[in-house]
Amino acid sequence: MHTPHASVAIDLADRSYDIRIGTGLLGDEASYAGLPAAACAVIVTNETVAPLYAARVRQALSARYARVLEIQLPDGEVHKDWDSLNRIFDRLLEAGCDRKTVLFALGGGVIGDMTGFAAACYMRGVPFVQLPTTLLAQVDSSVGGKTAINHPRGKNMIGAFYQPLRVLADLDTLDTLPPRELSAGLAEVIKYGPIADPSFLDWIESHLDALLARDKAALAHAVQRSCEIKAWVVGQDERESGLRAILNFGHTFGHAIEAGLGYGEWLHGEAVGCGMVMASELSARLGLVGADFVERMRRLIQRAGLPVAGPRALSASRYLELMRVDKKSEGGEIRFVVVEALGRAGMRGAPDALVAQVIEAHTER
Ligand code: NAD
Ligand code: GLY
Repeated sequence: MHTPHASVAIDLADRSYDIRIGTGLLGDEASYAGLPAAACAVIVTNETVAPLYAARVRQALSARYARVLEIQLPDGEVHKDWDSLNRIFDRLLEAGCDRKTVLFALGGGVIGDMTGFAAACYMRGVPFVQLPTTLLAQVDSSVGGKTAINHPRGKNMIGAFYQPLRVLADLDTLDTLPPRELSAGLAEVIKYGPIADPSFLDWIESHLDALLARDKAALAHAVQRSCEIKAWVVGQDERESGLRAILNFGHTFGHAIEAGLGYGEWLHGEAVGCGMVMASELSARLGLVGADFVERMRRLIQRAGLPVAGPRALSASRYLELMRVDKKSEGGEIRFVVVEALGRAGMRGAPDALVAQVIEAHTER
């Protein structure tokens, strides 16, 4: 039996829930106590994560649910689409799963986003639990109820706001994460500093080596502080009518890189890392922060093992075309998350020519 290191509350009235952060959580029956009774529990996972972690989840769930099914999807951002979603619905219907069925999303952000969307739609809504197994999913995507699939014309374009019943962030799963994926997760950790907490940015800078070495105490703090900041934002603006957009710092540029190169070419976190360099540059060119801030961000993102220059294959005009379909665009005007002062972010429009200069200043030569 393991005790969680920490618990972070997401306060959303009747949709409130806890994020439990610790080791040994996935295989511990106590982690699932208090979840609704149902005839059937369904683990939705992928071909990579299943052999690593599905058995321990299945065993723990078997103590509580008479039937535990498993749905394995193909791995990858390129499969975050209608086909995968339909596979989930097909299996649930074939197995006769009723509207009390509880879905368990076991995997990274791709599995979490798709399972959440499937839960929002199946029989007009069934409960689901997030079991995030990547750093990115533990610090960001499993929390806050954004669920979606991609459309060839834009990232996460089809989806719903739908909150999980619980999030279990088991730090043990990070032991098997490929180094490139660890770095991708660090992009979303780094994001929280400049938008909300300068002292967290200092902490990340001084603990980056420990995080890259997968020191459990450092990872536990990074996950906890990230979730606290996300909980604070989501608690005020669940459906992104304003404040929540700050969590997309670097994402407008990043989503354009992902869609422009083809999903899966760059990892989401890699695109966000590079996107944060561009968004920092834009903040500086709008006169909000100094050039020293851009250099500080660029250095940290590079140290985290992330790209700091955009791909040569994408022209500034292609970025602009792709960014106009971003969900934050209003009437065709692109809205960027900028840092207004260290620890505070806001939204701004900017002339295309200025945005093009920003992109060109941070593109591979
Ligand atoms: P991912 O889900 O593709 O996982 C990355 C890779 O790691 C995959 O190959 C996966 O199979 C593998 N993997 C997962 N856990 C593992 C483990 N413990 N050991 C070994 N391999 C493991 O990618 P991701 O970075 O977790 O998530 C990115 C997705 O999250 C994007 O689609 C992005 O749009 C979405 N996202 C959503 C939100 C949100 O608020 N909903 C926020 C940020 C990102
Ligand atoms: N990852 C952005 C959000 O949850 O709003």
